[in-house]
Amino acid sequence: GKVAVLAGGFSSEREVSLNSGGAVLAALQSKGIDAHLFDPQQTPLGELKAQGFQTAFNMLHGTYGEDGVVQGALEAMQMPYTGCGVLASAIGMDKYRCKLLWQALGLPVPEFAVLNDDSDFDAVERRLGLPLFIKPALEGSSVGVVKVKEAGRLKAAYQSIKHLHGEILAERFIGGGEYTCAVLNGQALPSIRIIPATEFYDYEAKYNRDDTVYQCPSDLDEAGEAQIRALAIRSADAIGAEGCIRVDFLKDAEGRLYLLEINTLPGMTGHSLVPKAAAESGLSFADLCVEILKRAHV
Ligand code: DAL
Ligand code: MG
Repeated sequence: GKVAVLAGGFSSEREVSLNSGGAVLAALQSKGIDAHLFDPQQTPLGELKAQGFQTAFNMLHGTYGEDGVVQGALEAMQMPYTGCGVLASAIGMDKYRCKLLWQALGLPVPEFAVLNDDSDFDAVERRLGLPLFIKPALEGSSVGVVKVKEAGRLKAAYQSIKHLHGEILAERFIGGGEYTCAVLNGQALPSIRIIPATEFYDYEAKYNRDDTVYQCPSDLDEAGEAQIRALAIRSADAIGAEGCIRVDFLKDAEGRLYLLEINTLPGMTGHSLVPKAAAESGLSFADLCVEILKRAHV
């Protein structure tokens, strides 16, 4: 049947979504699938049925597309769609509530604090140490992430991002390396180590620079690789994730892994990580897209 690749949308990750969607569209078409791009910013989602679509391949990152809103609308119109359902999407999008859930299950997360106008910023700085990171709970692609390096700067940094979506979180800096591990239909893919040329893996490093180094297979030893894969699966199961998701990790100097966040709608651009991990496990980009499409559901 006719497949709508949902891309674009209304979030701060609109451009990323259009890139992901374009790549997926080409891949599906290369497999002979009757796929078309569908941007909900241009055409109301409700037109899907009228236009004869039978399945939605969701590539909408960020608010509206990754947080359960679109998923709920698709459920209501009984349109099968790829990936996570309403609940997993809503929890996965919310870095604050997702952390609370993982903590309750005993999964390792970096120590954090929720900031508001009345916070004792000096006390937070002392407790978490410097440098530290602050970020909005409801954004992706590192939109709004700030590294605070100097004492006394936390409040100003908080004020510069407090207008963004969701609670503002401060997180302890874990400096031993950035990793990511994807889970496809319940199976973990090989982990990737990310070595940004910038101070951390920010929006520029993710999409606009070519000097970020990706190691896949990563430098984790056999035990570390087994551990990161097990943690990726457990953290995804904790929120009821389905389809293709990606869990981001930090490693400390002693080799301990911490869960940073889960992406229930990971990027599929030419710069993106899941396609690299899939390739390492022998799955082409087009086959990856077909695997995701196969599990579409309402
Ligand atoms: N939020 C971006 C798209 C990612 O996680 O890949
Ligand atoms: Mg994210």
